[in-house]
Amino acid sequence: MSDASSMHVHPTREALMDAVHQAFLGVAASAIESRGGFTVALAGGSTPADLYRRLAIKGPDWSRTTLLFGDERSVGPADAQSNYRMAADSLLQPAGVDASRVLRIEGELPPQEAAERYEARLREALPPDGGIDLVLLGLGDDAHTASLFPGTKALDEQDRWVVANEVPQHDTWRITMSYPLLNAAQQVWFLVAGAGKADAVTQARSNTANIREVPSAGIRPVGELRFWLDEAAASGR
Ligand code: 6PG
Repeated sequence: MSDASSMHVHPTREALMDAVHQAFLGVAASAIESRGGFTVALAGGSTPADLYRRLAIKGPDWSRTTLLFGDERSVGPADAQSNYRMAADSLLQPAGVDASRVLRIEGELPPQEAAERYEARLREALPPDGGIDLVLLGLGDDAHTASLFPGTKALDEQDRWVVANEVPQHDTWRITMSYPLLNAAQQVWFLVAGAGKADAVTQARSNTANIREVPSAGIRPVGELRFWLDEAAASGR
């Protein structure tokens, strides 16, 4: 593991979420203070909901924050499977975040069109190098992250920031940020909890893993890489 990464291990899931919450507020405040704004890409799945609920209670200056999504399923925003829906229920609605601060991936559109539209919006919202201040990522037990799944075409993308990715193992299409954009981030934080992810964490941290089999091992940002773990997820060390 490159020395630019760090492990932050907490005894319980609750303690983990409290620690990430405080760190998130700190990163947001310093970005807003130094640059006047903060861009963050939210992770999907279920793990981050506990963090988002904490942010709904105590969050950054949402009027200076731009909320992006690392990936989305090929569903509409009201669908129970939607990453946007999870964020809306746990954070955006309870915190009263203005819709103008949220760049949603339009999962209801054909995936290729949704990817192209999202990339165009990101290229307007981000600096030319794509440097998102903070990218939050989850980790699947198969070591996928965002919607970069083992053996899928998105792993080969070298130029585009957002792609439509066919995921045969789930018989579906996803829209996902690509390695070029994710690895241009100032900070990338994996947020992982539970013993079921311990092997995937070990694989994600490996510098010898084949990223076609371990997509999360391809996340090596120009900035800082942190693994935020509970003890159970860190048990494979
Ligand atoms: C998604 C996420 C995906 C998720 C992992 C972990 O769309 O599902 O982008 O990468 O973070 O699958 O999911 P859990 O947090 O539900 O374990």
